[in-house]
Amino acid sequence: MESLKPHAVCIPFPAQGHINPMLKLAKLLHFRGFHITFVHTEFNYQRILSNRGLDSLKGFHDFQFETISDGLPEASQRGIEDLQHLCITLPDHGRRSFRDLIVKLNGSSNLPAVSCIISDGVMSFTLEVAYEFGIQEMILFTPSAVGMSGYLHFEELKRRGVVPLKDARCLTNGYLDNVIDWIPAMEGIRLKDLPTFIRTTDPNDIFFNYNLKSLNNSMKAKGLILNTFDELDKEVLDVINTAFPVLYSTGPLSMLQQNLSSPNFESIESNLWKEDNECLSWLDKREPKSVVYVNFGSLITVSQEQLKEFAWGLANSKYPFLWVIRPDLLDGGEKIMSKDFMDEINGRGLLVGWCPQETVLGHASVGGFLTRCGWNSTLESICQGVALICWPFFADQQTNCLYSCEKWGIGVEIDSDVKREKVEQVVRELMEGKKGKEMRVKAMDWQRKAQVATNLGGSSYSNFERLVNDLMI
Ligand code: UDX
Repeated sequence: MESLKPHAVCIPFPAQGHINPMLKLAKLLHFRGFHITFVHTEFNYQRILSNRGLDSLKGFHDFQFETISDGLPEASQRGIEDLQHLCITLPDHGRRSFRDLIVKLNGSSNLPAVSCIISDGVMSFTLEVAYEFGIQEMILFTPSAVGMSGYLHFEELKRRGVVPLKDARCLTNGYLDNVIDWIPAMEGIRLKDLPTFIRTTDPNDIFFNYNLKSLNNSMKAKGLILNTFDELDKEVLDVINTAFPVLYSTGPLSMLQQNLSSPNFESIESNLWKEDNECLSWLDKREPKSVVYVNFGSLITVSQEQLKEFAWGLANSKYPFLWVIRPDLLDGGEKIMSKDFMDEINGRGLLVGWCPQETVLGHASVGGFLTRCGWNSTLESICQGVALICWPFFADQQTNCLYSCEKWGIGVEIDSDVKREKVEQVVRELMEGKKGKEMRVKAMDWQRKAQVATNLGGSSYSNFERLVNDLMI
């Protein structure tokens, strides 16, 4: 017997930084009475299954997982080098597979008819399917609002002849230091602070054009959901609002989940790597605010040289550290940590493959976070009032770094050409210096503001309620 519940199909881009916020939103909607179908690629589904077993994907009442095919050969690892291929296969192959899924769901007599699609901004090709079946679609854009504001101006950067860059020398001769003075609410922003996909000389660059197209497509959706809160991004949100008149800033989603007392259903998760929970008992044994937490996110790789500089910079700082080194973090192969290094950090440093990051950031012994500035990591750190050392790499990370350091006052940047002396100096500055103290005060201030936004009557709380109501129509 078909139930009368609204049925939301949630489809993230198949990368960890996109899956996590979508899963939070899906759990929140489920808590508000939606039937949820959460869509993974077949590849990721199998990966999650092999990490955590069926329990993590079994779902609970009215919450189910389904899959689509991403169109890549089975043997490909879906690492950063495969992202470009995904940008080619998903809009075609993935869309057809998604269409088949919608037909299947709507043909099932046990499920309510699909009433809305919540799609990742970079999966907005799903809109074609939504139109075909007369289903309303909302877009969740998972990067930051400040990053989104950058993406919003890709079209204009192209029209003005700024992108593609004239030649490859522009990447190294200081050209990227040029200030772009016409982007509203981003006064003083330099080319190098904008999402890195502008760093191309190729008019057919896959990432640049994929992001441009995704954003233009997204404007045709019924509304846009962002994982941020008004007070953090007020001016930029006003600009985004002119392009997306129906806008819901509902973040931080993890805080909203707590404040709505929505059960977290922790057993339902979608980690693409196997989590090491032992690190929590290691943290239990450390002094309050004494540990540097180091994590470079889910996508990027680092060179052996960079790894070595960080390793010795951390070791020489003499602070305890918890360092997540994903099995696929090192460019071109297995990590090799020298015996000297392992002897030096004996007991003081812990290396793990993947950790429960939000719990780690909330642990009393964590005093700072060395990060690539992925938007989830930045926001998760704000939620715990933890200050940042920023080492941005790509996409919106440079923009997040700029705002963290210059506007929100919670971060200090480390040069892309990393040297151990600098790592040591910045770690000390963060953990014991005047600047570190100021940054922590600021981070705790933003944490409080995020609490207010996600509490009953706060902006994110109210925006989420409005979203729920609009999705019921
Ligand atoms: C990044 C950014 O999300 C995004 O801003 C950009 O557009 C694309 O690249 P990523 O490297 O995945 O993605 O970083 P981040 O946004 O920080 O997401 C990583 C997620 O994985 C976070 O939610 C983090 O809590 C989780 N994580 C990471 C863990 O749970 N454990 C780990 O050990 C590492």
